[in-house]
Amino acid sequence: MIRLNENYLKLKSSYLFSDIAKRVAAFQEANPDREVIKLGIGDVTRALPQVCIDTFHKAVDEMASDSSFRGYGPEQGYAFLREQVAKQDFRSRGALVEPDEVFVSDGAKCDTGNFQELFANDITIAIPDPVYPVYVDTNVMAGRTGRFSDGRYEGFIYLDGTSENGFVPPVPQTHVDLIYLCYPNNPTGAVASKAQLKEWVDYARAEKALILFDAAYAAFIRDDTIPQSIYEIEGAREVAIEFRSFSKTAGFTGTRCAYTVVPKSCMAYDTAGNAHSLHGLWNRRHTTKFNGVSYPVQRAAEAIYLGDGPRQVRELTDYYMTNAKMIRTKMEALGYSCTGGINSPYIWVDAKEDSWTFFDLLLQKAGVVCTPGAGFGKCGEGFIRISAFNNQERVATALERIETALR
Ligand code: MLT
Repeated sequence: MIRLNENYLKLKSSYLFSDIAKRVAAFQEANPDREVIKLGIGDVTRALPQVCIDTFHKAVDEMASDSSFRGYGPEQGYAFLREQVAKQDFRSRGALVEPDEVFVSDGAKCDTGNFQELFANDITIAIPDPVYPVYVDTNVMAGRTGRFSDGRYEGFIYLDGTSENGFVPPVPQTHVDLIYLCYPNNPTGAVASKAQLKEWVDYARAEKALILFDAAYAAFIRDDTIPQSIYEIEGAREVAIEFRSFSKTAGFTGTRCAYTVVPKSCMAYDTAGNAHSLHGLWNRRHTTKFNGVSYPVQRAAEAIYLGDGPRQVRELTDYYMTNAKMIRTKMEALGYSCTGGINSPYIWVDAKEDSWTFFDLLLQKAGVVCTPGAGFGKCGEGFIRISAFNNQERVATALERIETALR
């Protein structure tokens, strides 16, 4: 008899964004003439930067000739991309990252979800709340939690993000082994200062813990005093893994390219207390389970660092940040207090009521889709997340409709 991994039965029946898609589909079916504007899932809408398109085409042409054709590439990614990443995303900001510490992949979602495989099942995990659901669900699947009860899984140490702490929870008073952090934050749009990240790095060093730092939205930071990478913090190379993505930075959600930095100095310990380098273990996992990102996609990703690439990428992110400003300004003018939207493409709005009720109100009355905060955890109840990823005219229309619906 084929038996189940029963941990899957502890999960909520579907992933948050699938739940929302179902509600929106039902609304569309009942109201076929209403045009729905989606500011829910953070999915980009603008074309790839021209440098990426040109390079992508060229690389596809290389595949059309025997003399320049490429078969399997290195699972960890081509050196040309790893070198640009190390130099431009890290060294240019004074953060030491070696090219061979960069593992190219097809998504930060997969990497943040998969990395936990390297750890024992009885570790203690600190999870922010509200949180990107992938960190939670993948640990549930792996059997690191008890039941889901009263909005939370037994076994996690939850880090409450609240209006009072600006959605940057402080380090726990107890010991934990693994910590998930995401800044600029999804879903709240909050950013962490150098001093705040330093507290986390110091905590992790003292506790021999590890930080999984999701920096998928680093390209949206506009305040230069805010760290873009955790490696800008002294000591982080010993205790932090960083995840980045080309998805939001350069419009790659449908093209797929991301990377994870695993410093050689990051260790995890066996039961006898011996240290093992996570770099070697992640390399082992990656080469066994992953065959690399396609050559043309890696060339297209490399293009963001060369020639006119940085300017084009900046223009793309600036476009979405203009949307973010429009959204935040309007919601504040309507009397809602907001976090995010300044160094992040997400605006976290205090809905002043139940988050699914507010979600339904915006859908039914304005034909606008947002994301109910409750979907990100218990502390998300009473909030909604509005995404800045859409075309500007549609964002403007959505805001007009929201204004009419809420006034
Ligand atoms: C989100 O809306 O939170 C993101 O699109 C999720 C993701 O990038 O996987």
